Amino acid sequence: MAPSAISPVQSEMNLAQQKGADLERRDSTSPLQGVGGRKMPQRKRTIDLNDGSEIPQIALGVYKAPNGQETEDAIIAALDAGYRHIDSAARYMNEEACGRALKRWCERTGTPREEVYITTKLWDADHGYEATFNALVDSLKKFGLEYFDLYLLHSPADCETKRLESWRALETAQKLGKVKSIGVSNFGAADLQHLIQNANVLPVVNQVEVHPFGQRKDLVALCEQHNIKIEAYSPLARGNKLNDPRIGEIAERLGKTPAQILINWSAARGNVVLPKSLTASRIQSNFESLDFELSEKDMAAIDALEENYVTGSLHKSDD
Ligand SMILES: NC(=O)c1ccc[n+]([C@@H]2O[C@H](COP(=O)([O-])OP(=O)(O)OC[C@H]3O[C@@H](n4cnc5c(N)ncnc54)[C@H](OP(=O)(O)O)[C@@H]3O)[C@@H](O)[C@H]2O)c1
Repeated sequence: MAPSAISPVQSEMNLAQQKGADLERRDSTSPLQGVGGRKMPQRKRTIDLNDGSEIPQIALGVYKAPNGQETEDAIIAALDAGYRHIDSAARYMNEEACGRALKRWCERTGTPREEVYITTKLWDADHGYEATFNALVDSLKKFGLEYFDLYLLHSPADCETKRLESWRALETAQKLGKVKSIGVSNFGAADLQHLIQNANVLPVVNQVEVHPFGQRKDLVALCEQHNIKIEAYSPLARGNKLNDPRIGEIAERLGKTPAQILINWSAARGNVVLPKSLTASRIQSNFESLDFELSEKDMAAIDALEENYVTGSLHKSDD
């Protein structure tokens, strides 16, 4: 069970809160005004979560993105293109770059921080009640933020006791307003059921590898049953399936890129989709993946590509 006193941790959190306060520069004129009055694109497709909040359906993933200028530029390109959701993790070791990009972009465009949905994740080594608070405070400091929109257990890791302690810590952090929503990643069916049985707050999402070549239908069905949304990571199968001829045929016929077909399929299945790119043109075209609708016939043809192909494993995530 969680300890009842949290005051030392809370005071540390208050420090992090003050540090992030300068980000809260509200511009009452228009949050959508870009530089020189240019309107920022606003194709805000969101999904409802089981805690009553909404999540933008496409995020820029930043796995394997360096903690420097390249990542800052990519995030700024994404925000300029219309993304309002960034998916990072303590493990990616690029939270400072993400925070700097967010701050720069918000200042340049006069957009309040609240307009951008920020996700990060607790790494396995930080499971446990106090350790979770410490890691959360550390991530908030690195980002320069007062709160995260979504905070995930990056993986179930091995120790059930510590995992549940971490979940209790996240439930408390949510009450304190340090995280708006809490969820999990890389949870298979058994670990998810165990958490559901022991949790006071249900996870809003399970972030797992899902794409047409590895659809994890049983796990997706279990999540659906509990109104836990799937966040589809590696939606492009890390680029390994972009040359698939069956995806290529649909893409060519519709005048789309293979990546757009894969992202559109995942979104049509109701997933939050997390394509990663550090290339501005791909960042832009990936975001345009929701601007068309696949026919039922094409959706069925893509469904039929299942081959249980995954690039990572659920339990031992290095990502
Ligand atoms: N929770 C977890 O354990 C976990 C694990 C893996 C991933 N994730 C999340 O999911 C995100 C995405 O997954 P991922 O990074 O594994 O793989 P991914 O998004 O499936 O693929 C990324 C690769 O595809 C390339 N790419 C992107 N758009 C493209 C396009 N339009 N045309 C051609 N190539 C394109 C990228 O290259 P360039 O960068 O060179 O453009 C990169 O090499 C991660 O960044 C992370 O946020 C989470």
